[in-house]
Amino acid sequence: MMVQKKVLFTACTIGMIFCTYGLLPGFALPSVPQIPTSNSFKAKLPDGEGRQYVQTLCTSCHDLERVVNQLKNLDAWTATVSDMLGRISPNMEKETAIISDYLTSHYGVVTSAALTLVHSSLKQDDLPAAESLIRENVGSLGQELTQILEDMDRGFDELGRQKARYDVLQDKFSQFQATWMPYEDVFRLFSSVTDQPGFSKRFQAKRLRIEGARHTTRADYFWDRQEYGEALQEYDHGIKKLQAAIPLAEAVNDQKLVAACLTNIGYNEIYSGNSAEGLRVYSQALQIAEQRHDDVFQGMYLLNLGTFHLYTMQPQEALDYALRAAEMNRKIGRRTWEANALLNVGATYLSLRKKEEAHSYLQKALLKAEEAKDRRSTGRILFNQALVTTQMGLIEEAARLMEEALEWYSEYNVVYSQAETALLRYQGVRFLVSTYQKLKNPEKVKHYASQVKELLSEDPQKLRTYLEDPHLNFLKWEKFRMQHPQLFP
Ligand code: HEC
Repeated sequence: MMVQKKVLFTACTIGMIFCTYGLLPGFALPSVPQIPTSNSFKAKLPDGEGRQYVQTLCTSCHDLERVVNQLKNLDAWTATVSDMLGRISPNMEKETAIISDYLTSHYGVVTSAALTLVHSSLKQDDLPAAESLIRENVGSLGQELTQILEDMDRGFDELGRQKARYDVLQDKFSQFQATWMPYEDVFRLFSSVTDQPGFSKRFQAKRLRIEGARHTTRADYFWDRQEYGEALQEYDHGIKKLQAAIPLAEAVNDQKLVAACLTNIGYNEIYSGNSAEGLRVYSQALQIAEQRHDDVFQGMYLLNLGTFHLYTMQPQEALDYALRAAEMNRKIGRRTWEANALLNVGATYLSLRKKEEAHSYLQKALLKAEEAKDRRSTGRILFNQALVTTQMGLIEEAARLMEEALEWYSEYNVVYSQAETALLRYQGVRFLVSTYQKLKNPEKVKHYASQVKELLSEDPQKLRTYLEDPHLNFLKWEKFRMQHPQLFP
């Protein structure tokens, strides 16, 4: 009996925190509204040699909206296409070249002759030529640069929406930066020639914001690989870039960008172990979104604030934010965010030992996650639901749900961090051992006991470190700090 109780308690704590990990790093900006349906994309695909290829090879896993929603230069398109086609079969060099050319000419970064000339003059250090070109084309260049700023936002939104693994995301950040960063000098010169500092400030603010987000994804990546020193450094670099972006964004009165920077700073602070500071900064972002009546940002910020309060063991606040997040995201039709908010409500009730409420909210969360096809939250919901049904005395049901959760984690392991997967497996199989003991099923007990043993012998040091990971369990921070004094001077 003692043993069972102990297992359950640990599993509960983790279940509660699970839904908190790996959520939105605060840079998942909302996508542009009013996206046409995939059919209209298909119809609109321009003629050209690559059209047929795109229609047949690029529509099996996602619709064309994904493809045409952003602009890239040839290098970036080639990298994306070879990544995509590499997932179906090797040796697609010919198709890769045709499709990349086609996409670059229709969804490439098209710049006017004037802008191209300004750019190349600057590259050749011919400042007078660049300046006179700008003077001759002030109006059209101004419009074009404004368009570039919008395209940057669109591309960044697309990055933020991807639930790819951090290592995959890194490459995409590089491509994205390679596409836009070459325009930095053009923006600067345009601002000084036309005496409109706003252009350059806007560009710089966005650049710093993107770099900040990139440091954050790198930090998460290092952290997951247990390289904590590098990770903390990256969180810190990110904070510095984002702090530098804020006055620029304020100077051009871009409150939306200010809020986005604050959320990213808050995230970095929280996962560097400065949770009070992080929550304070993050709440400022929510205030801005409220003042601007920006429902989409409110939906995202409420969700994340709920998550952070759940993680930092403040269930009352967590519940309040999660309920508001669920309502707001239902209102705006953000199903993935709604599913996650409902999961947070359920997990919070679970931590408060209110099992009926927990069960009912997790049920709703599961339906919503299915509707949204959100793989990441589904595994977490199943895990939490297994814990709740145990508390309710529905032992057989609990075993079934936990087995389903484990299957989910192994099938979709790309959407989870290594830390989460390792911990969940370990907790999950231990949970199943004790559950099948209760159900008096010695065969299953034996089966899962041997899995526990296997997990323990695979890489014991790694597993032990994940079990002490303060990103998965807030209560571990103190011990973590003591064990790594050099990281916390
Ligand atoms: C085997 C399935 C599959 C095929 C086929 C596929 N994609 Fe993708 N694509 C994905 C997935 C999954 C994502 C989500 C992000 C990720 O996993 O990288 C994605 C994301 C994208 C993105 C957004 C991310 C980025 O890198 O900019 C673009 C653009 C894209 N695909 C273009 C294409 C094109 C063009 C083709 C055809 C050459 C194609 N895809 C074929 C699976 C596929």
